[in-house]
Amino acid sequence: MPNVVVVGAGVSGLTTALLLSKKPGYNVTIVAKHMPGDYDIEYTSPWAGANFLPMSDKASCKWEKNTWPELARLAKDVPEAGIHFQDTLVLNRLKDATTATGQWLSELTSPDPWFKNTLPDFRIIPTSALPPTADSATAFTSVCINTALYLPYLTSQCLRNGCTVSRSILAHIADASLLHSSGKKADVVVNCTGLSASKLGGVMDKSVIPARGQIVVVRNEAPHMLTISGTDDGDEEVCYIMQRAAGGGTILGGTYQKGNWESQPDPSTALRIMKRAVELCPELTGGKGVEALSVVRHGVGLRPYREEGVRVEKEMVGGVWVVHNYGHGGSGYQASYGTAEGAVELVDEVVGVKAKL
Ligand SMILES: Cc1cc2nc3c(=O)[nH]c(=O)nc-3n(C[C@H](O)[C@H](O)[C@H](O)COP(=O)(O)OP(=O)(O)OC[C@H]3O[C@@H](n4cnc5c(N)ncnc54)[C@H](O)[C@@H]3O)c2cc1C
Ligand SMILES: *[C@@H]1O[C@H](CO)[C@@H](O)[C@H](O)[C@H]1NC(C)=O
Ligand SMILES: *[C@@H]1O[C@H](CO)[C@@H](O)[C@H](O)[C@H]1NC(C)=O
Repeated sequence: MPNVVVVGAGVSGLTTALLLSKKPGYNVTIVAKHMPGDYDIEYTSPWAGANFLPMSDKASCKWEKNTWPELARLAKDVPEAGIHFQDTLVLNRLKDATTATGQWLSELTSPDPWFKNTLPDFRIIPTSALPPTADSATAFTSVCINTALYLPYLTSQCLRNGCTVSRSILAHIADASLLHSSGKKADVVVNCTGLSASKLGGVMDKSVIPARGQIVVVRNEAPHMLTISGTDDGDEEVCYIMQRAAGGGTILGGTYQKGNWESQPDPSTALRIMKRAVELCPELTGGKGVEALSVVRHGVGLRPYREEGVRVEKEMVGGVWVVHNYGHGGSGYQASYGTAEGAVELVDEVVGVKAKL
């Protein structure tokens, strides 16, 4: 029975471990420095909104496209996963066409995106119904994930399927292979270390950098999920609103600051985030302005951005097969099942290769 060690308990590690544990024959140990329940700047997943707003283009949409059906199934049939469907409005401003955030969101704001037949109820908002800030808009049904419920849910599913979970800080990739619960050397290590992939010994990947996201969690309810192609507060500031399932609060975002490692929320950024959210969606406070926002917490997460996109690859490192699944940027949830399936295929290959030797 192949022994697998998955390093990382963010959405990438837990989803990969879950899919492995569903296949007969794998014995999976999850090892991580941070676990669901922790809030730490080195652990991105709890800070995410999280919703499904595709960022990939037609050529690279495979990971997101393959993720949607499972998130939709969970929203429909599995209330304890903490995911619900939300009507979603995407606003576009012509003046953002060439900005960094405008380009980051260009497929999302397109009137003809790849996902128009994937997400339910896709429609173009007629000009007469546009808010004054927008030049065009689309709407569709998507999901919002309450990460405070969903990450523990994934962990519980892994435990139910016989995975072992333990805490450990790894200094080098090769160390992971010695941490399988059986005491035997692991056949495969799966690397789901997110942003830390840039720091960990073994295969330091300097192309992974933070794309800092500051958010405000509020108790106020939002009538729908909302996002816009840019703001007038600079190239690194964005505006989005999403209400999490099951009392998870409403996330007001945000920023997209590449190369910025600052772990503390900046008060003036927070003020701008709240001001923009209430301007774009006055219903948040019933027309009573920013003062009527009820703040649960301010937060910062660092998206594990990788210039070439997420790395789903296998590699032999110091005599150990490693399958990488890191560098998801702002798409760790919406690409979670797609990339985890890709990683599982590589684990299958590696184990098959070993069997033939
Ligand atoms: C503000 C914000 C909003 C976002 N919104 C969305 C959204 O709406 N939709 C979406 O899809 N994505 C969103 N994202 C992106 C998403 O959060 C990330 O892509 C995702 O969380 C990355 O998950 P991960 O499992 O790869 O990394 P992480 O969650 O960072 O997990 C890394 C794991 O590896 C472990 N680890 C690292 N180094 C070591 C080591 N040396 N030894 C042992 N363990 C180690 C850590 O302890 C941790 O368990 C958002 C991000 C931010 C910051
Ligand atoms: C995995 O291996 C451990 C340690 O040998 C064992 O206790 C456990 O039952 C195994 N799990 C599965 C799912 O086979
Ligand atoms: C994960 O991959 C990164 C980038 O290649 C590397 O720096 C790190 O050593 C790997 N870690 C593990 C535990 O596999």
